[in-house]
Amino acid sequence: MFAITAVTEDSRRKPEGNRLIIAIDGPSGAGKSTLAKRLAKDLGFIYLDTGAMYRALALKVLRQAVDLADDNRLGRVVDETEIDLRHSGGNLQVLLDGENVTEKIRTPEVSQMASKVSALKIVRAHMLLLQRAMGQRGSVVAEGRDIGTVIFPQADVKIYLDASPRCQELNAAGRRVELAETLREIEERDKRDSERDIAPLCKAEDALLVDSSSTDAEQVATLVLNQVKNKAREK
Ligand code: DC
Repeated sequence: MFAITAVTEDSRRKPEGNRLIIAIDGPSGAGKSTLAKRLAKDLGFIYLDTGAMYRALALKVLRQAVDLADDNRLGRVVDETEIDLRHSGGNLQVLLDGENVTEKIRTPEVSQMASKVSALKIVRAHMLLLQRAMGQRGSVVAEGRDIGTVIFPQADVKIYLDASPRCQELNAAGRRVELAETLREIEERDKRDSERDIAPLCKAEDALLVDSSSTDAEQVATLVLNQVKNKAREK
């Protein structure tokens, strides 16, 4: 079973008490992780890297050579898989069935498979429950493709971080472990993630559009921090 704890209808209601949710969506390599990590650190919020969760499942699918067209097999794998995100010494650890796969999920092969499995209904349905359950652990900064539109439509602050392809390439190259992911691979993934039927990558109507190729990362962080402060005052 996916490690789902205390999943109730509550997860669709407004965050309770003083809990705040920041949703950051956008294509690959726009700088979502850098921004999300920075905000989580400054605010003391939980960092929810939803892409890492799809990547962990993708790693298992690759290891077990699961045929994505085989719904029964995929369903069993999804049911039997435990994915968790742990925070240790300021770093995020991704656990797949208890194994630390933090580094292993950052290969181009896993990137592509994550994009493929994430288009499947059975996978998204499970991830939705799991991610909402994680959102109940406290105030969160969640990054992904469908956070502001599907996972946390009630988020307090929503950012859609966009970037030019060239900038995406530079960002990707800057990440040591994903060094080999080419611009073509990034474009292929973004196309698939944007054109799928379920929860495609798109900007939530009420999300603030930020172009990270023309806006300084520090400026974006300051802008979001100010929005969060205003929201916290309102609560
Ligand atoms: O953010 P990332 O590059 O680690 O995500 C890997 C893949 O996972 C991405 O190509 C699409 C998928 N994904 C998704 O469909 N929905 C999310 N909320 C996060 C990631």
